[in-house]
Amino acid sequence: MSTVIYPGSFDPFHLGHLDVVEQAVSLFGDVVIAVMHNPQKPAGTFSADERLSMIGDSVAHLPSVRVQAFAGLAIDAAKAMNALCIVKGLRTPADFEVEQQMAHTNFTVSGIRTVYVPCAPALGFISSRFIREISTHGGDVTSMVPSAVANVLLAHHKRS
Ligand code: PNS
Repeated sequence: MSTVIYPGSFDPFHLGHLDVVEQAVSLFGDVVIAVMHNPQKPAGTFSADERLSMIGDSVAHLPSVRVQAFAGLAIDAAKAMNALCIVKGLRTPADFEVEQQMAHTNFTVSGIRTVYVPCAPALGFISSRFIREISTHGGDVTSMVPSAVANVLLAHHKRS
């Protein structure tokens, strides 16, 4: 059993993310989902606390999974958690290009490796960006997110 870290912005967490978490649990054992900021993306729709809460509810059936927010670098979060490696999900070749550059950079500066998990083919089209777009306009995203996230999205849409 090893501990691995799965960093992401998770804004919001969706079924593709959950699939990666479940695969990482069966491969490694303990998984820390690290809620982080992606400097390439504008300020998130959901606060770190909202994301922690909706992810926590979505992985409640997985006792070896923890959810924690981290500021700063993914490699520092990995060191803080004594993680064997960073886990990332891959959906498309475009994901690979971005992730490979980050993986090499992270390894070069820290010696921490990244292991890729291919997202289940049936879920590979799901993206947080389109979930945000559709739910902002009142659309139904329940087929793409865990039910805990669907409830938060609905409440968020009613408030705004
Ligand atoms: O879900 P995302 O937005 O694709 O996740 C990207 C994330 C948050 C994992 C990435 O932006 C990240 O690692 N951010 C922390 C800052 C960091 O470590 N930067 C160095 C990258 S080589």
